[in-house]
Amino acid sequence: MKYTERISRLESEGAFAVLAKAKKMEAEGKSVIHLQIGEPDFDTPKNICDAGIQAIRDGFTHYAPSGGIPDVKKVVAEHVCKSRGIDVNLDNIIVMPGCKPLIFAALISLVGEGDEVIVPNPGYPTYRSVTNFLGAKPVPIQLREENDFRFRLDDLKSLITRKTRMIVLNSPENPTGGILTNEDLEGIYELANQHDLWILSDEIYSQIVYDVKFQSITAVPGALDRTIIVDGMSKTYAMTGWRLGYGVMPRKLAEYMFTLAINNFSSTATFSQYAMAEALSGPQDDVERMNAEFRRRRDVIVDGLNAINGVTCLKPEGAFYVFPNITGTGLTSQQFADIMLEEAGVACLAGTAFGKFGEGYVRFSYANSVENIQEALKRIRDKLATLK
Ligand SMILES: Cc1ncc(COP(=O)(O)O)c(C=O)c1O
Repeated sequence: MKYTERISRLESEGAFAVLAKAKKMEAEGKSVIHLQIGEPDFDTPKNICDAGIQAIRDGFTHYAPSGGIPDVKKVVAEHVCKSRGIDVNLDNIIVMPGCKPLIFAALISLVGEGDEVIVPNPGYPTYRSVTNFLGAKPVPIQLREENDFRFRLDDLKSLITRKTRMIVLNSPENPTGGILTNEDLEGIYELANQHDLWILSDEIYSQIVYDVKFQSITAVPGALDRTIIVDGMSKTYAMTGWRLGYGVMPRKLAEYMFTLAINNFSSTATFSQYAMAEALSGPQDDVERMNAEFRRRRDVIVDGLNAINGVTCLKPEGAFYVFPNITGTGLTSQQFADIMLEEAGVACLAGTAFGKFGEGYVRFSYANSVENIQEALKRIRDKLATLK
């Protein structure tokens, strides 16, 4: 049978491959501490589950309007206006089953064959994978450790060509936890405006920030007209399995995305959408509790990694990942990740799973208990000591 060439251009995600390997090891009776997975280990808060269950009981088990239920979109719009300090309405909002479909839809709608898309590197692999799939060229922009894992505006300037269509931002960032500053955002918008570029701003970690206030590029005057925000419920509300994301975009693009939704999945699960409305409008105590616990774990893992010979680690201000520099161990990223999984029972991801500028780093997710993080740190330290 024949397959299109284009389908072979899609890449898998490192986290899923490592998870499969770790599960196999566990089935063989080995102990593995999972620090590879980008998924909160908390349960979805009870009030949100109750809203979803109630919606099922109330009969909300049929198709919903393709771009989202208007009452739910209203709650999303209110949340977006408040959290970003901007003015949007229902016509700017599209609900989809997760951020990923929105990233896909944005790229399909705005990027053509031969176009260039500037993507953060190390960065979330989906941006690169889908850009390649579309026959466009992902152009990596380096996030630099010496710059707190932000890219330099000069680098951005030098990468823009006549073919550039879009720049992808992800702040707070996966895998580094880095956050763009207001000055960065203003500079990026200025360049995007000058060169007529779209901005895809993946803000899925916007509510998981520690010592700084989250700032969306859409707060820069004018930016809303050329930006698509994608955000969702997976991380902040521990709702990965509910499949909920929303996009904020200019009205014309929202109309295209609506039609795309009709042709692709019809609608996002109706009862899930009611759970999202509760998540965004109900009490936020559980979010505060989860964030406080993430902060505690971040401090434990950063201090623990910095105490290990050959490893240094910046303290990230957002998301739930750390991205330590492991060059002092003499191992490559892949060697480090393989040895830790196979010989120490600690699952993490090679920095190169996020692109070439990830060499010399690994990613640990701290979506795991402090006890497990401490045990993992001990295993890493002991293993590295045997390699000296
Ligand atoms: C940066 C980033 N964007 C998007 C997603 C996908 O989120 P969703 O579960 O909403 O599809 C993830 C998940 O790991 C992510 O890290």
